Amino acid sequence: MTLEAAKAKLEKYGQSHVLKYYDELSAQEQAELLEQIDATDMSILAAAMNPDSLPKKGVISPIPCMDLDEIAANEKEYRSIGIDAIKAGKVAAVLLAGGMGTRLGSDNPKGMYNVGITRELYIFECLINNMMDVVNEAGTYFHLFIMTSDKNNDVTINFLKEKNFFGYKEEYIHFFKQEMAAATDYEGKIYLESKSHMATSPNGNGGWFISLMRAGLMDLVRENGIEWFNIFAVDNVCQRIADPVFVGATIAKKCFVGAKVVRKNAPDEKVGVMCLEDGRPSIVEYYELTDELMNAKTEKGEPAYNFGVILNYLFEINELERIVKEELPLHIVEKKIPYLNDNGELVKPEKPNGYKFENLVLDMIHQMSSCLPFEVVREKEFAPIKNPTGVDSVESARELLKKNGVVL
Ligand code: UTP
Repeated sequence: MTLEAAKAKLEKYGQSHVLKYYDELSAQEQAELLEQIDATDMSILAAAMNPDSLPKKGVISPIPCMDLDEIAANEKEYRSIGIDAIKAGKVAAVLLAGGMGTRLGSDNPKGMYNVGITRELYIFECLINNMMDVVNEAGTYFHLFIMTSDKNNDVTINFLKEKNFFGYKEEYIHFFKQEMAAATDYEGKIYLESKSHMATSPNGNGGWFISLMRAGLMDLVRENGIEWFNIFAVDNVCQRIADPVFVGATIAKKCFVGAKVVRKNAPDEKVGVMCLEDGRPSIVEYYELTDELMNAKTEKGEPAYNFGVILNYLFEINELERIVKEELPLHIVEKKIPYLNDNGELVKPEKPNGYKFENLVLDMIHQMSSCLPFEVVREKEFAPIKNPTGVDSVESARELLKKNGVVL
């Protein structure tokens, strides 16, 4: 992009300050900045000034869930369907590891966090150990795609290589990078993180399938006959991945997506809950849950919106290819964004100081025509590590790991 074209683009979106230090930069830095300006979608930034313009939820109603009793009654059948699918190479896992993990506050990617006490036990290692249970049961490895971002790609790959992928076969592991989005102050002005770079942040976990396609990995997917992607978060150290019973149940029920859910531990627990929205599967985020929905009851007198998602979904790939052209809603999230102050010095804020712009995987559920909410036991499968201490923390995850027999 030429300087003239960059000026015109920035002016159109009220971002001319991005070139403030342009004349001080080396030729290479100038070229990098122009390239970044060219690649950045600035049309989304206007939403920062007008959050009310973001799409609103439709009519919410309860969705039936496959609960633990129903699963137990059919476990043998589901397990056998799931194991057959895994043996046939139809199931792959996708690890979403592009997030910044700002709440945990570690400089390294979250997966490199050591949750061990008397020995080293990294988050990535816990996840791979869980996958190895299935590898051993099915007698075959399954493909693992790992999504990183510009901010953590190299360090993630180097770490996993150095650790020999914790025993997972390297030829089954494939990396791809997600896209980045500009980060702004509360007035929608893009922050600079250096004189030659706009501040950016990974664009949310909702872009994972587009990024996987753009990375050219679909050839490998098709050549290997993969039909299902089990996507999962990096920070839930207890979750079962490519869980044969979950896979088998989703296939048996002929659903395009399966969603692992846990029974909420309180009506106001901070998890998104499964529901129908205008008759299609959907998820209401905890901050969107009105008191009326929180206290609604089914005919049996049970809470109507009682199943929270744990970010472990099984997507059917043809259906993903069908929905990929549809736009996902934008979410604006307050974050701590390091920025250059008026004196050109880098400031690392202690409190949120602006917005990042994200698409979320949970919105993909609403694009699918059918979904199987599949209950799992929270003490066995839900140990997210978001914070150093307190709720959803290293401490609480360690407790659950111990309860599940993992030596720390
Ligand atoms: P979180 O919503 O917990 O976000 O991600 P985060 O960025 O990791 O952590 P905070 O909010 O800054 O503390 C849930 C899952 O989605 C992935 C994360 O890596 C995690 O597995 N994710 C999130 C991405 O892969 N990309 C993103 O842009 C955001």
